Amino acid sequence: MDSSAIRDKTVLVTGGAGFIGSHLVEALAPHTEVRVLDDFSTGERAYLPEDVTVIEGDVRDPIALQRAARGVDVIFHHAAVVSVSQSVDAPRQSNRTNVDASLLVLEQARQEDARVVAASSAAVYGHPVELPVSETAPTEPTSPYGVQKLALDQYTRLYAELYDLPTVALRYFNVYGPRQRGPYSGVISTFLEQARAGEPITIDGDGEQTRDFVHVSDVVRANLRAATTGETGEAYNVGTGERISIGELAETIRDATDSSSPIVHREPRPGDIRHSGADISKADRALGFEARVGLESGIRSLVDDEPAPLASPIGDDTVADPE
Ligand code: NAD
Ligand code: UD1
Repeated sequence: MDSSAIRDKTVLVTGGAGFIGSHLVEALAPHTEVRVLDDFSTGERAYLPEDVTVIEGDVRDPIALQRAARGVDVIFHHAAVVSVSQSVDAPRQSNRTNVDASLLVLEQARQEDARVVAASSAAVYGHPVELPVSETAPTEPTSPYGVQKLALDQYTRLYAELYDLPTVALRYFNVYGPRQRGPYSGVISTFLEQARAGEPITIDGDGEQTRDFVHVSDVVRANLRAATTGETGEAYNVGTGERISIGELAETIRDATDSSSPIVHREPRPGDIRHSGADISKADRALGFEARVGLESGIRSLVDDEPAPLASPIGDDTVADPE
């Protein structure tokens, strides 16, 4: 498929009202017929453009899924319980959404002969043996969430191999950007809220742990590339290749917001990965993907409340600011 092949298709975004899903929907909606299946457990209807078809339902419900997926060409599968600590507290509950429902999605895609682009995670690697982490690194997750994402990731590959279904797994590193919020959301949104409110910025553990933070607009571009690549049956890292410690991040955010919040330390999180950083050479080679937004400018635009740059599926080098 060429890069404009997504145009005029019908696509389903599961979890499309969520943080990442809604940015993807926004990029797709002007060019494709978009359906969203979401139970609004963490997503928001207000994030969705008016002209998308919304099916309010549970991705674990085969009837809702069947209805949402009828006749689609591509399924972007984002619905999940995304919080690592929630998965540690209730592993069976998150398994039902992250694994059981993912299998339903793949089965439904077989019925429809639809491509699947699945949101996998850097959590599949666990503590990396080598940094940056490449896709061939060992996978030893440290949390139920990581195990569940690994199952999704492997099923995605297997469906390509066994049933010739065009599938791609995107292993996101730590995604941030506008619309990320809530008690179980990512550390950047948590630190920003704390700094803005003048409340203590809460570091789990010593703050020496590192992460590779990738802006949501870059993640959207990776999805658009994955929707048309000929290199299916593969998993790709989606990160920047740069790492920052959580301690340094806390200071960066405090400075960027001119906040006088104290920085405090709490107990380390059970199941927390120590270091995480992406080798993105495979995504670069096969998808032509490279992150464009650096962390400093990404944080600056969040502080200034700027909208994320909009990626276009029609030759995705066209990047326009939303109106
Ligand atoms: P999010 O919580 O904002 O989005 C998840 C969406 O799925 C929400 O709209 C929620 O309402 C919906 N949802 C949850 N359970 C559902 C169910 N049973 N039925 C229907 N809808 C359901 O989270 P996000 O950060 O946008 O994550 C999107 C995807 O990316 C997830 O699969 C997540 O595991 C993956 N991911 C995220 C990150 C990150 O840093 N945010 C990193 C790696 C992978
Ligand atoms: C995040 C994603 C997960 C994804 C993974 C991929 C969220 C909620 N989780 O997990 O879906 O698969 O990246 O890499 O987006 N921290 C603090 N103080 C806080 C909050 C967090 O110190 O108040 C620390 C955590 O202990 C951790 C780091 O910041 O070391 C990142 O935490 P978090 O944003 O929750 O993301 P991950 O657990 O890496």
